[in-house]
Amino acid sequence: MGIAVTPLSQRFGAEIADVDIARPLDEATKAEIRAAQDTWGVTVWRDTGLDDAGHVAFSRLFGHVELAPRHPGKPSRMSEPELFDASNLGLDGEITDNPSIRLGAAGNRLWHSDSSFMDVRSAQALLLCHEAPPHGGPTWFADSRSAYDDLPQAMKERIEGLEARHSYFWSRRRAGYPYTEAEVDAKPHATHRLVHTHASGRKALFVGAHTRDIVGMDRDEGRALIDELIEWCTRPEYVISVHYRPGDMAVWDNLATLHRGGEYDDTQYRRDMRRTTVRAPGADAAPDHYTAMFAAAGDTPFSPSDAMKERVLVKA
Ligand code: OGA
Ligand code: MN
Repeated sequence: MGIAVTPLSQRFGAEIADVDIARPLDEATKAEIRAAQDTWGVTVWRDTGLDDAGHVAFSRLFGHVELAPRHPGKPSRMSEPELFDASNLGLDGEITDNPSIRLGAAGNRLWHSDSSFMDVRSAQALLLCHEAPPHGGPTWFADSRSAYDDLPQAMKERIEGLEARHSYFWSRRRAGYPYTEAEVDAKPHATHRLVHTHASGRKALFVGAHTRDIVGMDRDEGRALIDELIEWCTRPEYVISVHYRPGDMAVWDNLATLHRGGEYDDTQYRRDMRRTTVRAPGADAAPDHYTAMFAAAGDTPFSPSDAMKERVLVKA
């Protein structure tokens, strides 16, 4: 008996049924799940019955599960070190008005690939819903393989072999965090090819909110190209949305898709989403690279300097 795969659009996204992923899976089923993920880029799982530990355990099917970015002295609401808190809740479990968490959420509403600002990229992300707002709050996904396939030949030739620089602090700036260009310049960047070959053998665009510049290209020209490619990738024919009820999970191939968090009234409604990420193969033994990156940056995503907080608060 195989898993049931129902496509969500012609080329992209599928809902999976007929398999209980809260229980141990046999090798044949695991292989089917990996193959469906490779083909469809996004898989959606309804009413999974997964708890935090089960979420992490299921994630291991895809490879090495990363430790979530954490800062010493800043406790997390999450029970497992691998869980990234994508909720609008604070440590006390209540809706937060913390400006840096709210700006982080604003950053998530820009089209992006998770962690593209790291040298070692994340290959899969598994986002599990624990509480959903009554209206809205979906995640939007875009198919960066089909978008590449459909590019005009002249554009394919123009971008072949180009490399782009990515920075976490650049996307924060785009989301409204008041970093200056010079401040972003001083923070870490990662360099990746603009077009890469995905594990499926298909080519994909690799751009998003963290993508700052094209190597060797005039800054304005590079940014215009980045914006043009993001816009192309997120045209309606490449996009699907996933709406959640508690227990539902979306799994996306982070190297074959872009995604963004959907709008909802985050001052009014609780939305408790938790995410694991699976590292691209080949770097399983690498240490906790997020901590190293944020230490090198002299900053962390959730602990801006006091001066920075003041500027955020004044601006908000
Ligand atoms: C993420 C993310 C979007 C959402 O967790 O990486 O972008 O809909 N989430 O919560
Ligand atoms: Mn994300």
